[in-house]
Amino acid sequence: MSRSTIVILDFGAQYVQLIARRVREHHVHSVIVPPGVTADEIRALGAVGLILSGGPASVYGKDAPRCSPEVLELGLPILGICYGMQLACEMWGADVTPGRSREFGRTELDVLNRSTLFAHVPERTSVWMSHGDVVSEMSDDFVPIASTPGCRCAAVAHKTRSFFGVQFHPEVSHTPCGTQIIRNFLYDACGCTGDWQVSQVTHDAVDSIREQVGESDRVICGLSGGVDSSVVAALIHEAIGDRLSCIFVDNGLMREGEVDLVDSTFRQHFNVDLTVADAADLFLDKLEGVIDPQEKRVIIGHTFIDVFREQAKRFKDARFLAQGTLYPDVIESGHGASGEAANIKLHHNVGGLPAELGFDLVEPLRELFKDEVRRVGEHLGLPEEIVWRHPFPGPGLAVRILGAVTRERLALLRAADTIIIEEIRAAGWYNKIAQAFGVLLPINTVGVMGDGRSYAGQHVVAVRFVESADFMTADWVHCDYELLGRIASRVINEVDGVNRVVYDISSKPPATSEWE
Ligand code: XMP
Repeated sequence: MSRSTIVILDFGAQYVQLIARRVREHHVHSVIVPPGVTADEIRALGAVGLILSGGPASVYGKDAPRCSPEVLELGLPILGICYGMQLACEMWGADVTPGRSREFGRTELDVLNRSTLFAHVPERTSVWMSHGDVVSEMSDDFVPIASTPGCRCAAVAHKTRSFFGVQFHPEVSHTPCGTQIIRNFLYDACGCTGDWQVSQVTHDAVDSIREQVGESDRVICGLSGGVDSSVVAALIHEAIGDRLSCIFVDNGLMREGEVDLVDSTFRQHFNVDLTVADAADLFLDKLEGVIDPQEKRVIIGHTFIDVFREQAKRFKDARFLAQGTLYPDVIESGHGASGEAANIKLHHNVGGLPAELGFDLVEPLRELFKDEVRRVGEHLGLPEEIVWRHPFPGPGLAVRILGAVTRERLALLRAADTIIIEEIRAAGWYNKIAQAFGVLLPINTVGVMGDGRSYAGQHVVAVRFVESADFMTADWVHCDYELLGRIASRVINEVDGVNRVVYDISSKPPATSEWE
């Protein structure tokens, strides 16, 4: 596999994943590494350029993260962003001090030199700033290439090296020319050719699965109906064909049509060896009378593992277990550069499988961001309904039924959820929303139905639409009232047992996406 890679040194930037994604949007592979990376490790990664990220520290601070001087001497083109610029300038003899005032938010930038980094960028443009320190005294080796009213060295270039520093953040959408600036760095300074294409990514992933699994071993893959496990299964199937066996545990907590969608996609379309384990009764019996959300999660998690383990025993020749670990999981677990297995946050691992099952892991998505996973899924011919599916929690509808989980309450929420999804699809909102769902509340409210007062057996359904890039933060969707009105009247008219629908207008934080 030969591809050019941009190595991003992470000095604790809030936006470090965004930098990596921006680079990849230009079809250039990128990896994020800790600041202590060695020059040899960078060479081994096939780096053609370096980006030094921003970070919260001051370069003159006691515990400020630094990189080794050899890294700067590799002769690779370097783009320093904010802290990254200050650090490189300081290491090459410039002074970094607190600025006269801090600069936060949108600022007007005057471009002084419109070659290389600022090619095709207007002479004046807005940029996003977030800094207190500045490069105050440059050595003769540097020239300023842009300035703002509050920052003389808003961008600098080195006279003899291929180094550019920007005090602002080109990676955020509030810097309109940021895309052009990053492109200039990648293609003009680093000589990238845009070889990170979905066909190549898919091809490389298939190759490395073949290499890892070998000629005779079997891989087991747990399917959930979500995009990650579906793409994992499709990739492995492409790589090793009928030596892939998929297991779908029907826990009875799925949405309407979910089991059929998985079955028709994988068994019928891809001709994958798929076992659907109907374990709904087992899960629902264990959940009987359980109200506490954490207890529900634990029961569901353990039962899932028990059922999966039983099913997996049938495949005596299976040595590998597939897992849909994504690149953000790898980065967040701090193992990005060293290639160790990801330690995914427990909260989101309910419905996942523990290492003690005793398999070797195959993780073909470990290098990819979610949007890249979707593109690989499209490339492999997965249906749009799976590729663009909103995320769905491992414990399923159990976290969306507040209070006891019963068959009746599941049927009610499933019917309401189906209407919600039908209506947002019909209104063209589905792909604009990160996650949309209904929540069944554990209360009755009074209502009038026909000529009578209704109360007993009449429930409230909360509708929740959130928009979010990564689910760490989320906002409620300001969607149109007509759509909400249609959903409310259909749910109340068509779902027996619901007399009230409310819309959740809380952001995360302080709320969460799910209600539990
Ligand atoms: P919260 O509610 O924390 O959820 O804002 C963030 C995202 O995570 C999903 N979620 C889960 N996903 N297993 C999963 O696979 C889980 O146990 C789980 N709990 C929450 C949630 O749906 C949202 O997309």
